[in-house]
Amino acid sequence: MCGIIGYIGNKEVVPILINGLKRLEYRGYDSAGICVLCKNKLQTLKKKGQIIELENELIGKEIVGTIGIAHTRWATHGEPNEINSHPHLDCKNKIAIIHNGIIENHFSLKKILEADGHKIISNTDSEIVAHLIEKFYNENLEEAVIKAIKYIEGTFGLAVICETEEKIIAVRRGSPLIIGIGDNEMFVSSDASAILEYTKKVIYINDNEIVTLTKNNYNVKNLDGNLVNSEVQEIKWNLNEIEKAGFKHFMLKEIYEQAKSIENTLRGRIRENKIKLSVDIDPKLINKIIITACGTSWHSALIGKYLIEKISGIETCVDYASEFRYRNPIIKNNDLLIAISQSGETADTLAAIRIAKNCKTLGIVNVVGSTIAREVDFGIYLHAGPEIGVASTKAFTCQVSALILFALHLRQELGLELDFGLINELILISGKINSILDKADKIQEISSHLKDAQNFLYLGRGINFPVALEGALKLKEISYIHAEGYPAAEMKHGPIALIDENMFVVFIVNRGEIFEKVVSNMQEVKARGGSIITITDCPDDEMIKKLSNFIISVPNTCEELSPLINVIPLQLMSYFVADAKGLNVDKPRNLAKSVTVE
Ligand code: G6P
Repeated sequence: MCGIIGYIGNKEVVPILINGLKRLEYRGYDSAGICVLCKNKLQTLKKKGQIIELENELIGKEIVGTIGIAHTRWATHGEPNEINSHPHLDCKNKIAIIHNGIIENHFSLKKILEADGHKIISNTDSEIVAHLIEKFYNENLEEAVIKAIKYIEGTFGLAVICETEEKIIAVRRGSPLIIGIGDNEMFVSSDASAILEYTKKVIYINDNEIVTLTKNNYNVKNLDGNLVNSEVQEIKWNLNEIEKAGFKHFMLKEIYEQAKSIENTLRGRIRENKIKLSVDIDPKLINKIIITACGTSWHSALIGKYLIEKISGIETCVDYASEFRYRNPIIKNNDLLIAISQSGETADTLAAIRIAKNCKTLGIVNVVGSTIAREVDFGIYLHAGPEIGVASTKAFTCQVSALILFALHLRQELGLELDFGLINELILISGKINSILDKADKIQEISSHLKDAQNFLYLGRGINFPVALEGALKLKEISYIHAEGYPAAEMKHGPIALIDENMFVVFIVNRGEIFEKVVSNMQEVKARGGSIITITDCPDDEMIKKLSNFIISVPNTCEELSPLINVIPLQLMSYFVADAKGLNVDKPRNLAKSVTVE
């Protein structure tokens, strides 16, 4: 959801900003722009499309300087075009801003500013901010920004430069912002990936904090102008973790990283026959667990409900964060709210934990230092490493792994006996995942038959129903093929009407008590002419062989861990279908990795 980067130092700023934008491109990629303080004048260049278009446009242009800001956009207000791209400028081209978030009262502010004589040229909410700062500017940019944001309702991560001051001002409310501290150079960015190759020393800015950066110094203040003591933290990620390492796409690299990333989620957390999590909650006192999340993380949450209820016996419900926050949910003091989020910045998930003021909150988050991670009472980091592909893959399997650990932890703290068969199988799961990845060629071959399909149904049951949802989501996200996930037994209540010879149906069928029932559903599809792709640990079963057009065999595991296995071929299938269609897998249209607006 929009990426912002700013630099002040001694180096030529344009390459640093373009490089940073490329790292942030997963946050938004419909247009981009740059503004540099060049010979005491602000020089701005904007371009519709991806960063590469902006980069090409810069060739031969005399935009040089050592202070600048840049933005990659995911449009919320106003179509993606050059006028609506950031940076936005004031009337006199003396102040430039980049913004991530939504200015909710922009209509009323626009009227006031226009009545004051300001000329607002774009259709965005963000441009208002440049004019508001202009209105209050009196030779002190920091003061003008503080005054301006008092009038703003909504969310923002903002960076501002001005023609007459050698500094960058940055401020946030509700949208992520970090500053990077280098040697005689400072950075501001939406996230660490954009600055990692220059410095690992960062400060995570909190809501309602304003930062002034000069090339040798920084200060962080609250909006009353008082200095705030901010902790400098060290980023643990390495540069090679945010690069493609020879893979064609980040998504493919991240699919292949899953065995390792699950090991990282588990590392040190299963010791001496115990589950070790720093979650100091007495499960005997928990009334009910509420899990809230969005997108793929919501699918993990559904699996989490299944796991927690089965393993610990504690009642668990799951809510989309966007629904939870607006429906006056009943939250008791002794409930536990779990927020699952890869980025730790999803606006709806963040809002959900903020309304759960009367109960304890636990975050299952990947990005260290993200807002959700900082606002919850307890946390389980995934340690999955940076996930850059917009379609989430390794975060999903690490979230499920973390939820298994948490469910086991609850059981242990309730004084109940742990299932060591399950724990040993969890330790072995990485090897089984790798054995599926070793057969990626076969999945690619099957996918080549699917790329022209128009409609897919994904069917699974029990703990694998959310896997069916996730498989369908992956396919529609990156290949733009319509796909729906359903519990297999629900098929007869509607989706069966859609089945004809043009429908592809993906079944997840594991041995176990409902095996026969799912096979019956397969028969119903076959009888209506549908084509069946079966993900199964029983590839030699006669009925499976007879009913399936394609079979993808997966290793057998216990039911609780089966989502970790079954999702891998579904991720690969989506990837190969999208790639065969020649689509931009890592940057699917209209989507963004981190949705920091409602
Ligand atoms: C966006 C991403 C999804 C992600 C969802 C929730 O829609 O494209 O991949 O699952 O946000 O993100 P979170 O960071 O909260 O897990």
